[in-house]
Amino acid sequence: MDQNNIGDKTSDFYDYVWTEYLPRVEGHNRWLKSLIGEDDIRDKVVLDGGCGTGIGAIGFKMLGAKEVMGIDISPGALSTASNLAQELKLDISFQQRDLLNLDLGQRSFDIIYSFGVLHHTGNTRLAFENLLRYLKPGGKFVLALYVKTPLTFLHQGLRKFLLTLPAFTRIPISRLASVTMIGKKKIIRGFDGEGDALDWLYVPHRDHYTPEEIRDWFREHGMEMKLLVPYTGRFKSTSN
Ligand SMILES: C[S@@+](CC[C@H](N)C(=O)[O-])C[C@H]1O[C@@H](n2cnc3c(N)ncnc32)[C@H](O)[C@@H]1O
Repeated sequence: MDQNNIGDKTSDFYDYVWTEYLPRVEGHNRWLKSLIGEDDIRDKVVLDGGCGTGIGAIGFKMLGAKEVMGIDISPGALSTASNLAQELKLDISFQQRDLLNLDLGQRSFDIIYSFGVLHHTGNTRLAFENLLRYLKPGGKFVLALYVKTPLTFLHQGLRKFLLTLPAFTRIPISRLASVTMIGKKKIIRGFDGEGDALDWLYVPHRDHYTPEEIRDWFREHGMEMKLLVPYTGRFKSTSN
């Protein structure tokens, strides 16, 4: 798949996923609070890079962030995010942006949060560098990527096979997978199991990384990486 194709297909895919499957705000907020802590969120300026349904951006705002911007490549996801924020009467700026070609002008952020996004772009490292340009000195970059483990080749092999099957098989297979594959943390993050399985199995592009690889990326910028959630899922192989 060439780079343009990845962006277009990913955008189309999430136009569907993020209008059909919506996470639960309360469950997600509890999870976000346990991950980052309200004291570290209060009064901060936050960028949610690849905000999807806006659930992260909404969580940051509800937990006391001063200002929040959510960006994503998928118009469908952004419209879900704006509607959700409007329903909750939250002032959040949602904008369509491509992380591989990012210009946010003079903006800078105390926290840049990007959960389960960069590994879908086709150029994780470029997306990482692009986001990092907008982090204030001393700021926090909260990043979640698919982990690379000895089982990754099995996950990817299964995915590539499933992608060759007719499209009508996707929902029943995702439903089945949600019962058999999804670890506890997925439910805790406030996401629906079937939607999560669909995302896990059928997203057009996905790359995996070891924590050591990512640590090196941060080190090159003089930053220290703290591993918040190492490995999760039934076989400790499915983590973001
Ligand atoms: C698995 S979803 C995660 C959404 C959200 N961060 C969350 O925690 O629910 C990945 C998101 O990344 C977005 N995305 C993928 N490639 C992108 C790109 N090049 N630029 C901006 N957003 C992108 C997708 O549209 C999708 O909404």
